[in-house]
Amino acid sequence: MQFFVDTADTGEIARLQKIGLIDGVTTNPSLIMKSGRDFKEVIAEICAITDGPVSAEVTATQADKMLIEGRTLARIAGNVVVKIPLTMAGLEACKAFTEEGIKTNVTLCFSANQGLLAAKAGATYISPFLGRLDDIGMDGMDLIEALRVIYDNYGFETQILAASIRGPKHVQECAMLGADVATIPPNVFDALVAHPLTDKGLAAFLADWGKTGQSIT
Ligand code: G3P
Repeated sequence: MQFFVDTADTGEIARLQKIGLIDGVTTNPSLIMKSGRDFKEVIAEICAITDGPVSAEVTATQADKMLIEGRTLARIAGNVVVKIPLTMAGLEACKAFTEEGIKTNVTLCFSANQGLLAAKAGATYISPFLGRLDDIGMDGMDLIEALRVIYDNYGFETQILAASIRGPKHVQECAMLGADVATIPPNVFDALVAHPLTDKGLAAFLADWGKTGQSIT
C-alpha cells in the first residue's frame, strides 16, 4: 500500500519525506488556500522534495479550460498528476489527458458508478472521499469495497486512492479492503504510530537499562 501525504504544507511534507514512508503528495484548492502560498510555486517546491506523484488540481469547470490548466500544471515537473473533479467535463478532460500521457487523479468521487466512469476514462487514480461520506451518515468503506470489486472484475488499472481520511481506523480499513493508496493528513500520519502501550513499554525498558549502568557505544 502506498502512502501519500494530503497537505500543501511543505514543512510537513519535508518532515515526513525524511522518515522515508511517504510515496507521494496530494493537494486541493482548500489546502492551497490554507498554505497561504502561490499555487504553482508551492507545487514546484513539493516536487523538489519528493520524486513521487504530486496531485495538483485544476479549477476550471469546462473540459477545454481544464486541459489548458492541466497542461500548465504538468509542465511544472515530471511528477505532477493533474487532479480533475468527477464531472462530465472532468471525465472528458481525463480521457484527453490519458491520451496525451498526462497522469490524472479524478477527485470528489462519492459513488461506485462515478468510479467506474473514471476508470473507463483512463484515470491513473480515483479519489473516493471517505470522511465526507461518513459525515452524511454513509459508510465510506462501502465505496472502497465496491470500487475494489469493480476494478478487479474488469482489470481496470486505475488505482484506488482513498482520500478524506480522518483517522487511523480509516487507514487500517482501507488497507484491509485493498485500496492501492491512502492519502493521509500529517496529524493522522503521526497518530498511526502512536500507542500508549508502546510509550509505557519504552519508558520501562529505558528505566531498567539506566539501572544496568551500561552503554551500547
Ligand atoms: O484529498 C481530499 C481530502 O483532502 C479531503 O479531505 O477532510 O477535507 O474531506 P477532507
